[in-house]
Amino acid sequence: MPAKGAHVDVIVGGGVVGLSVAWRTARAGRPVTVVDPAPGRGASYAAAGMLAPVSEVTYTEGPLLRLGVASLRRWPAFAAELAADAGFPPADADPGVGSGGGLGFADVRALDLRADGTLDVAFGADDMEALGELAAYMEKLGLPVERLTGRECRRLEPMLAPSVRGGLLAPGDAWVDPRRVTAALLVALERLGVPVVRARATELLREGDRVAGVRLAPPAAEDGSDHHDLPGELRGERVVLAAGAWSAELAEVPVRPVKGQIMRLRSPQPLLGRCVRGTVHGSSVYLVPRGDGELVVGATQEEMGFDTRVTAGGLWELLRDARELVPGVTELEVADVVAGLRPGTPDNLPLIGPSGTPGLVYATGHHRGGVLLAPLTTAILLGEESELAALCTPGRFREIS
Ligand code: GLY
Repeated sequence: MPAKGAHVDVIVGGGVVGLSVAWRTARAGRPVTVVDPAPGRGASYAAAGMLAPVSEVTYTEGPLLRLGVASLRRWPAFAAELAADAGFPPADADPGVGSGGGLGFADVRALDLRADGTLDVAFGADDMEALGELAAYMEKLGLPVERLTGRECRRLEPMLAPSVRGGLLAPGDAWVDPRRVTAALLVALERLGVPVVRARATELLREGDRVAGVRLAPPAAEDGSDHHDLPGELRGERVVLAAGAWSAELAEVPVRPVKGQIMRLRSPQPLLGRCVRGTVHGSSVYLVPRGDGELVVGATQEEMGFDTRVTAGGLWELLRDARELVPGVTELEVADVVAGLRPGTPDNLPLIGPSGTPGLVYATGHHRGGVLLAPLTTAILLGEESELAALCTPGRFREIS
């Protein structure tokens, strides 16, 4: 446990964002401690891991697109350094499918990082028109996209439904397995000697006008870990709030939970070679193939507060819509169903940087893009990225003075 008054950053939250911030901060030589009742088991556990700035945003979200594109550029190096720090063996000479951008010095395939693109498909004339508008916007920004006919889509992905009329390929989009990323981050932190305290942070400690640490409570029974030596509080020079949807329980931030239900299907052979998505019955559905043959189908978007129940209706919607895109999904075995809470903000942009209170820093509100935006978030906090930092400044909201 760090000594009282040490120049420690206390990172509240052990999801992809919090653990990434802890890892990069520790790597830069600054002592950190992470607090989370169940690291890696929050929204990151439910996330599909799409690194898909082009196909994940609409043309009304220009600033988010800029953040996503910049963060995606950082992902290959981020993944390679993480793989190396976690002690993954060097990649072999023939990386094959899922090469993680051809990086050779550490096995980024262990994170299931793949850069094979996203295919956004359309069924009706309206869908085709919407995809056409999106393509024109992307082309204007100089982002690589390819418009495809239905036949070209099926040539790329033979399991697509015959009713697919056309599509938009974003060849630069990628994805990663967030569960592997959090596992690797925890190993890397352990190797760097960073303490990860299994506890809930219940309150910010204040000293005069500054935040000086957090009060701790044992994890909930279902997270059941040994907490006999748990201190009552953790003090630090700075508290970095990376508690996702729970951030507003500790500070006045405009962050709310947005529920997402997701399912993992198991397939003897990979059904798809790349991410496939589409809009069915007015809602967006995506299918993300994992290297081990799993297919992730997601995700609902529900404003239900802190409800994490997996519902029959949610799963039915996912399967109904996924079947429209790829009829063969109904043959697959269900491996896992889970609901997570995205940290939504009023403008869908994250809050990254100092708050108005000395000692309190935000790394929260990443909504649908926590995995994608993790490398950029760490770069902003470590002062390596100033241009895009302004888009994420917490001070843009009046309640954060
Ligand atoms: N980024 C995908 C989702 O939030 O569902």
